[in-house]
Amino acid sequence: MSNTSVELTQQELEAELDLAQLKQLVGLVEYDEAADPFPVTGWDAITFVVGNATQTAHYYQSAWGMELVAYSGPENGQMDHKSFVLRSGSIRFVIKGAVKPDSPLIAHHAKHGDGVVDISLEVPDVDKCIEQARSAGATVLEEPYEVSDDHGTVRMGAIATYGETRHTLIQREVDGTTYDGPYLPGYVAKTSTFVKRDCAPKRLFQALDHIVGNVELGKMDEWVEFYKRVMGFTNMAEFVGDDIATEYSALMSKVVASGNHRVKFPLNEPAVAKKRSQIDEYLDFYTGPGAQHLALATNDILRTVDELRKEGVEFLSTPDAYYDAAEFRERVGEVRVPIEELQARGILVDRDEDGYLLQIFTKPLGDRPTVFFEIIERHGSLGFGKGNFKALFESIEREQDKRGNL
Ligand SMILES: [Fe+2]
Repeated sequence: MSNTSVELTQQELEAELDLAQLKQLVGLVEYDEAADPFPVTGWDAITFVVGNATQTAHYYQSAWGMELVAYSGPENGQMDHKSFVLRSGSIRFVIKGAVKPDSPLIAHHAKHGDGVVDISLEVPDVDKCIEQARSAGATVLEEPYEVSDDHGTVRMGAIATYGETRHTLIQREVDGTTYDGPYLPGYVAKTSTFVKRDCAPKRLFQALDHIVGNVELGKMDEWVEFYKRVMGFTNMAEFVGDDIATEYSALMSKVVASGNHRVKFPLNEPAVAKKRSQIDEYLDFYTGPGAQHLALATNDILRTVDELRKEGVEFLSTPDAYYDAAEFRERVGEVRVPIEELQARGILVDRDEDGYLLQIFTKPLGDRPTVFFEIIERHGSLGFGKGNFKALFESIEREQDKRGNL
């Protein structure tokens, strides 16, 4: 099992991605899995609980170009809720909504609104991970168990992370056989009647780069330690206090990553400032800690943003001043497209010693000012846009102010 070379996951193979592309897209690195106390292959699926899964699943197809691949619901014996599985590249989203009036999803949704309940990770050995998690003091929510259907067997377990978020750990190869169903036992393959526009691209994003967690004031270091101690993650980069403060709003952020860097978790906490930060606003409206944004990796951010705008997806605006400043030109230097192309779309740029990245953030996806997406195109940089935080936060604050929450 010991190797230091990273291999493509089943999801990446199905998405026809290659290793060189992934190194560029998400900063994948080689590492020694045998020395890892909690080996993580990569993301398995991101599960959202929403108020109306039927319509949300349509939104991810129509606006975000995702493909429906599997389903579970009353028609195949799942009476409690409907669950739609959507793919784009190597990413899988699972969208769940309650059917029964007494479904436990209703209470969850009433408290948190639409949001991420489960960041599932694919692991080669679920028992090893659960044992490591327990001995490191994590809350084990589900002991390892197996589920099977005609497509094979999957072994799973689950641990708790911040708030009411969990990590389900999924082992898709059991006794030498890899599960070959559309998602998990209990799900049936499903495509929809939705038809993409003529000329619509095959997909708008290829992979998931990182998921940011918002935690309470004073809790960031606790969760950084959790990921290091329990899951063997390492620090990637660090931003603190003044680095990302505006006049009114500040936050602290640190980043941890799995051995191969497929899974990256920046963790934010609010910092004291004149007014409530965007993290405070999130914590109020999500009712506690949770996933703040998911960064979707693309190799053509201009096309992705243009297509998303055509479908009505709204992005945070970037002040023209951001692009005009001499200091910006100096900081960013040459990138693959003229600055005017970026400015026309409000795309942000950041550069560090390894290269640069292009990024843009959507407005909140649902009714509450909580979860949103980032679109990211990396060119060597392994950062998260530290140099853009100030410009970004000023933009977010304008929106927060419009809602009366600043
Ligand atoms: Fe991000």
